[in-house]
Amino acid sequence: MAKKHDQEYGQQLFSSLQEIAAGSRQHPATPPAPAPHPVALFPPPPRELRKMKKFRFQLLHRWLVERFEPCRAADIGGGKGLLAYMLQESGWETAVIDPTPQALPHKYKNITTGQRIKTPAGAAVRHIDLEFSSTMADEFDLLIGMHAHGCNALIIDAAARLGCGFILFPCCVIDEPFYPPIGTTWLESVADYAVRQGHHIYPFRLNFKGQNIGLAATGRCRLSPSHQILK
Ligand SMILES: C[S@@+](CC[C@H](N)C(=O)[O-])C[C@H]1O[C@@H](n2cnc3c(N)ncnc32)[C@H](O)[C@@H]1O
Repeated sequence: MAKKHDQEYGQQLFSSLQEIAAGSRQHPATPPAPAPHPVALFPPPPRELRKMKKFRFQLLHRWLVERFEPCRAADIGGGKGLLAYMLQESGWETAVIDPTPQALPHKYKNITTGQRIKTPAGAAVRHIDLEFSSTMADEFDLLIGMHAHGCNALIIDAAARLGCGFILFPCCVIDEPFYPPIGTTWLESVADYAVRQGHHIYPFRLNFKGQNIGLAATGRCRLSPSHQILK
């Protein structure tokens, strides 16, 4: 049986997140420019076989580079730094913010070509070996928290204060400053918190097994030209 945090959530929860997100477009706390419709902004990807959870970095990398212009991105709780490394290879300026220093994986799979890629000797990403605090966000446009332990509310707060975008895959509530009310999932609670901080959020799914629902806010990040057209 899948561990609790590895379980895939269903369409009902996704629909609930879309409803919370729609509220963020009707009652923004800080009214910015009109937000594009979420389905137009982040259409579901073309169908392909569901991938194993270990490919979540490749899937998120592809999702990001297809939608955003390269920007300054922090992968908070970024672990081994594979996502930051792949974004860097795509021309993004990246850093991992994680108190536990970990080496890049020696190899990884390109999910588009199927090729195994060896990480070149000497390859590196910038690593800030500290717990995330909102002052660190000053130098970034996009704050990424893929299962970032205890950092979801901090990321939302920092992004609201500084106008950054964020990508969150909330995993567990441990070490967060609030708990979901009874009858509410952690994901709904995070989405609701983000809306109350004035963010326009977009729920989306990546095609891997496990907790694959993300919450996106574009903030000051620029969408790539093909996604501008969808506006
Ligand atoms: C569940 S792992 C996720 C790692 C990676 N993002 C992934 O998806 O595999 C959580 C990571 O958060 C890091 N972490 C824990 N507390 C943190 C904090 N306060 N600030 C930043 N990172 C933190 C841990 O060291 C760990 O690498």
